[in-house]
Amino acid sequence: MSEGVVVSRAAAEEAPIVANLMQLYIHDFSELWFDREVEGELEADGRYSNYPELETYWRDPGRQAWLFRIKGLPVGFALVDDVAHSPKPIDRAVAEFFVVRKHRRRGVGLAAAHALFGSAWGVWEAATVRRNAGARAFWRRAAETYPGVRDVVEEDRHDARWDGAVLTFRVG
Ligand SMILES: CC(C)(COP(=O)(O)OP(=O)(O)OC[C@H]1O[C@@H](n2cnc3c(N)ncnc32)[C@H](O)[C@@H]1OP(=O)(O)O)[C@@H](O)C(=O)NCCC(=O)NCCS
Repeated sequence: MSEGVVVSRAAAEEAPIVANLMQLYIHDFSELWFDREVEGELEADGRYSNYPELETYWRDPGRQAWLFRIKGLPVGFALVDDVAHSPKPIDRAVAEFFVVRKHRRRGVGLAAAHALFGSAWGVWEAATVRRNAGARAFWRRAAETYPGVRDVVEEDRHDARWDGAVLTFRVG
């Protein structure tokens, strides 16, 4: 079902595409923030505020932005960095990851996640907020179905750093 998904590093000039998709991503998350004062509110102009320091994903060597496309059109994005949500040392973390609603549950997310894992060996982390049960199930599945993944550990954390699941696994 996921044939035709092309996953590639986003070039600096493609940053506006990622920023546009980020608006849809934040809208999805806003559903989980119904009880928060500020998060998930639109600005007066009808847009969400810009993702903080998005430009660092093209500047810092430990950060990357990715785009997923079908037939040349964007269907999702990922931001990858090396910021851990638990004390466990990691090499890569999935900071943000999104597939547009029209293309969900057809393997696009799995194909994209596996392309990311294939880009770097080492310990990967995917942290999901407590209310995002679907994403938690998705990352477990993505790790379990990638050939060569070892040491899959899912931790439930509730501390100053994170409230939710932290999945880690070794690729390669
Ligand atoms: C989570 C997300 C990326 C999944 O993308 P997707 O393209 O729909 O995922 P896939 O079709 O590759 O799903 C693969 C498997 O993961 C699991 N899965 C995916 N979405 C799920 C959900 N909402 N609930 C439970 N399991 C889910 C299923 O096992 C699924 O296989 P199945 O469809 O045969 O049951 C997408 O729903 C999304 O962008 N959500 C909003 C943003 C978000 O939460 N991002 C993750 C932040 S960490």
